[in-house]
Amino acid sequence: MAPRPQYPIETERLRLRPFTRGDVDDVFSYRSLEEVARYLFDPPLSREECALAVQQRTTQTGVEDDGDRVILAVESRDGGPVIGEVSLILRSRDARQGELGWIFHPQSQGRGLAFEAAQAMLSLAFGVVELHRVFARCDALNEPSWRLMERLGMRREAHFREHGLFKGRWDEEFIYAILAREWAKQVL
Ligand SMILES: CC(C)(COP(=O)(O)OP(=O)(O)OC[C@H]1O[C@@H](n2cnc3c(N)ncnc32)[C@H](O)[C@@H]1OP(=O)(O)O)[C@@H](O)C(=O)NCCC(=O)NCCS
Repeated sequence: MAPRPQYPIETERLRLRPFTRGDVDDVFSYRSLEEVARYLFDPPLSREECALAVQQRTTQTGVEDDGDRVILAVESRDGGPVIGEVSLILRSRDARQGELGWIFHPQSQGRGLAFEAAQAMLSLAFGVVELHRVFARCDALNEPSWRLMERLGMRREAHFREHGLFKGRWDEEFIYAILAREWAKQVL
């Protein structure tokens, strides 16, 4: 296991890199939007909250212990602002389990960019981080998110019915997952 991967990670169209303090305005441009926050635990963020989040993210670049997270800024390889973020949380070092997450600016959705960035994070998770299983979860109403999980080859493992309250209504949650050997088969 290499808990501190090498950055940046480049894909066909994207560059994934650690956050820097100069990213606050870019992050504010999407994390302040109601439509982005709808299915996130956080409400739309103020600029001050974005500044704090970015400050925390600048050091979230490696996973060593349970709960550690890698959160990377996503930008176009052609330059321009940060268009989103992808995350990998180490849920169990012993059992090599991780959780993926993604948030993109609405202007950068619908073009397969989140898919491309998430694929890179799965490569990282099953490559240098040597995880055994990666899962992701979302609100059952968040169709763009669970469709992305299905495009990545993840299996729907659970549908929790009304298991909690989320923003004033019953929460319905999907859990999707993929094993290292399933990922290896599909990238061959
Ligand atoms: C969840 C989220 C990241 C999904 O983003 P997205 O852009 O829909 O996801 P993808 O990158 O997979 O793009 C999918 C779309 O691009 C299209 N596409 C175009 N080119 C493509 C390509 N080269 N590869 C894959 N898909 C491509 C797909 O057909 C699909 O379109 P469709 O929705 O009309 O079927 C986004 O909705 C988001 O940021 N939401 C707000 C935050 C949030 O809820 N995060 C998740 C919390 S659990």
